[in-house]
Amino acid sequence: MSIGFIGAGNLARAIVLGILKKGVFSSQEVSCISGSGKTARALSLEAGIRLSSSRLELLNQSNTVILAFKPQHLDTITEEEGNAAKGSLLISVLAGRNLPSLRSAFPLARNVVRVMPNTPSRIGKGVSAYCFENPPTNDDREIVESMLGALGASYEVNEPQMHIVTAVSGCGPAVFFQFIDFVAQAAETHGLERSLATQLAIETGIGSLELMKQSGQLPSELVDEVVSPNGVTHALLESLKSADWSETIHKGIYKAVNRSEELSRPAG
Ligand SMILES: NC(=O)c1ccc[n+]([C@@H]2O[C@H](COP(=O)([O-])OP(=O)(O)OC[C@H]3O[C@@H](n4cnc5c(N)ncnc54)[C@H](OP(=O)(O)O)[C@@H]3O)[C@@H](O)[C@H]2O)c1
Repeated sequence: MSIGFIGAGNLARAIVLGILKKGVFSSQEVSCISGSGKTARALSLEAGIRLSSSRLELLNQSNTVILAFKPQHLDTITEEEGNAAKGSLLISVLAGRNLPSLRSAFPLARNVVRVMPNTPSRIGKGVSAYCFENPPTNDDREIVESMLGALGASYEVNEPQMHIVTAVSGCGPAVFFQFIDFVAQAAETHGLERSLATQLAIETGIGSLELMKQSGQLPSELVDEVVSPNGVTHALLESLKSADWSETIHKGIYKAVNRSEELSRPAG
């Protein structure tokens, strides 16, 4: 088995360190290459993996290839490089690049997989959605699932669902970060230090989400457990409802889906 990473930045690093730690692949089986070579050299040194001398060499020597550069770099793949992935499993984490555009760059790959990870993947707490171009063999499914397992949880979806998945789990971390910041800003105006308010909000978020996951209760049931009639939480939630919180989120998700659809359409 040989697995090659084209792009050796944040996400590739998270995957490489994760799969080596879990023993999914050995360091001798993994190689990488980057644009300037800087990140690939650093990752090769840190993880003890092979540094390829060119993208073509990596493509010729790998039977699984992970595309982990920026989405626009897909257009720099030459015909020779694309054809060098003959018989390989091609896995892409590029935002907004759909299966047909990946297939067109790598026409001879044995199968193509599109993955939408999210930023908590950097600490192994991410969630990824993935779709295969063609029904996978058991071995290929195993490769994809064990690789994504290094980043956190993973779920298979249909390609058309990738837009809404992008809105929910791809953009989701930014929504949570922004929410924490708004809470901390508001708390500061009531005399709590911003750093302490941020910590309280972070720990509240971690605890609440873990409770929701472990209890298996519906979000609405957990809301009811916190709210007492005319109490403090009731006052807070009523204020949010009167500002049409739900409608605001619906609109945000709608805009994100639209933008994702727009970005995945070929230019011109
Ligand atoms: N980070 C996330 O959590 C996350 C979440 C969802 C999706 N993604 C997707 O994951 C991909 C990588 O994101 P990232 O955060 O890891 O980016 P990043 O840290 O900026 O890394 C980008 C990598 O691409 C390399 N590169 C640049 N030009 C290249 C070229 N022409 N050929 C080969 N490699 C080239 C860079 O190499 P040098 O710097 O050494 O030149 C670097 O190793 C993106 O497509 C993004 O859409 C990331």
